[in-house]
Amino acid sequence: MRRDLEALAATVAQRAGELMKNMRANAIRDVDTKTSAVDVVTEADCQTERLIVKLLSTARPNDAFLGEEGGVSGNPDAEITWVIDPIDGTTNYLYGIEASCVSIAATELASGDGVHWLGERESVPRKTVAAAVFNPFTDELFLATAGEGATRNGEAISVRAPESLAQALVATGFGYTEQRRAEQGAVLSKLLPQIRDIRRIGSAAFDLCLLASGRIDAYYERGIQEWDFAAGALIASEAGALIIGRAGELPGSQLLVAAHPTIAQQLRDAVTENSVG
Ligand code: IPD
Repeated sequence: MRRDLEALAATVAQRAGELMKNMRANAIRDVDTKTSAVDVVTEADCQTERLIVKLLSTARPNDAFLGEEGGVSGNPDAEITWVIDPIDGTTNYLYGIEASCVSIAATELASGDGVHWLGERESVPRKTVAAAVFNPFTDELFLATAGEGATRNGEAISVRAPESLAQALVATGFGYTEQRRAEQGAVLSKLLPQIRDIRRIGSAAFDLCLLASGRIDAYYERGIQEWDFAAGALIASEAGALIIGRAGELPGSQLLVAAHPTIAQQLRDAVTENSVG
């Protein structure tokens, strides 16, 4: 059944990716803002999310949906909630940088095995059981089903093992408010001398897939939303990454650290030691 969810997520992500890619030239003229003047939403975000919800709800009319632009919809008692980011990496999309993805995760209330996470919108933990992240600009489709591994364009992928945190190439991201950015900058300034280098690619979903396919060694971010990480976290975890949060807390919106198991806790300690709040 979970494989069916993955297959559906894959088909829908590709259809949605085509739409958002084709809309780019026009959509970027019609830009609005959300939490701050630099947090943008384009007409393509809204239309792409509507297409995703329409395709998923046609195939699975009893499910629920949580989308970055449209919020909560569908059956409130559903077993499966689809967590959707129609364009993760909207700023890249606006500027024509080829790191923008459609991110689709089939999630359940957390129980048993798997990565349990806590999003910003819910007080109860969830877990992702199937996921698709599609970057239509690089034509890369990343998929995972819980317990069954992760793939990139049909080939199995796995994280690489860095020699140490000092040798690790670490990706991160920044929120959209001034205060959050000031805090994130302070943490980063302490971390930077302890690692190989930093990447700010601009799409959390893509960061997690780059980790999953061995092209970076780790990713962390504070303050990301469930639609940014729900799909990518399963893909990274199924590729062998450890996904953790602050000590004693679940990974998620408070903090998500994803890395090869040999460096994940050391990275978490390094980024929490200097964090504010
Ligand atoms: C953003 C990207 C970015 C991350 C931000 C997210 P959006 O999502 O994933 O890399 O640093 O925290 O909000 O706004 O492009 O969907």
